[in-house]
Amino acid sequence: MKKTKTTLIAPSLLSADFSKLGQEIKALEKAGADLIHWDVMDGHFVPNLTFGPPVIAANRNQTKLPFDVHLMVDRPDKLIDKTAESGADMITVHMESSSRVADCVSRIHALGKKAGISLKPHTSVSEIIPFIPEIDLVLVMSVEPGKGGQTFQAQALEKIVALKELIGRKKVQISVDGGINPETAEACRFAGANILVAGTSIFKAKSYAKAIEALKGSK
Ligand code: DX5
Ligand code: ZN
Repeated sequence: MKKTKTTLIAPSLLSADFSKLGQEIKALEKAGADLIHWDVMDGHFVPNLTFGPPVIAANRNQTKLPFDVHLMVDRPDKLIDKTAESGADMITVHMESSSRVADCVSRIHALGKKAGISLKPHTSVSEIIPFIPEIDLVLVMSVEPGKGGQTFQAQALEKIVALKELIGRKKVQISVDGGINPETAEACRFAGANILVAGTSIFKAKSYAKAIEALKGSK
């Protein structure tokens, strides 16, 4: 069957084996991943702590795939420069963070990177309206940020549909993050998401390639 629209798959390294991130990244590239999604957590905006710019930088030469960095931190403004230097291609900040999101977006663009804004499950899509002309990506959280392996919250689908309408013909990608498996991936693709972020369903699979293929589906 001919594919009419490509959905990009962004495996989240949160579920990878942290003792061999370089090998995991190479395996994901070989398996057909389109982006590498880094979940940076500060132990404050979310309870967990993961990795930051030094770890991202140390792995930059493992692949040519774009690095999609999701900053789950309370003050993303303080990390943007270092994240850009680490080799990020896309940097996403949270609408609910304590930083001025508009300033974050301007700084990310000034550093030559793509800028995204993420919405937690309870944040209304209407909050993104003033930013649509400025951003490259909206990251819809379909679980509470902070950990992998949670169940997809179906209201994310309505948000994706509403965003698609708001975005219209503008070049803003819609990414969805949390609880993505072949079934929820299909629903998200149908709703209009362009990028699917997935941790558990890829890393728990025997074959990363088959898991990625299953998320891309046939449409
Ligand atoms: C959650 C992270 C996600 C997470 C997704 O806070 O933003 O990227 O790793 O993991 P799964 O696919 O396991 O829900
Ligand atoms: Zn994420």
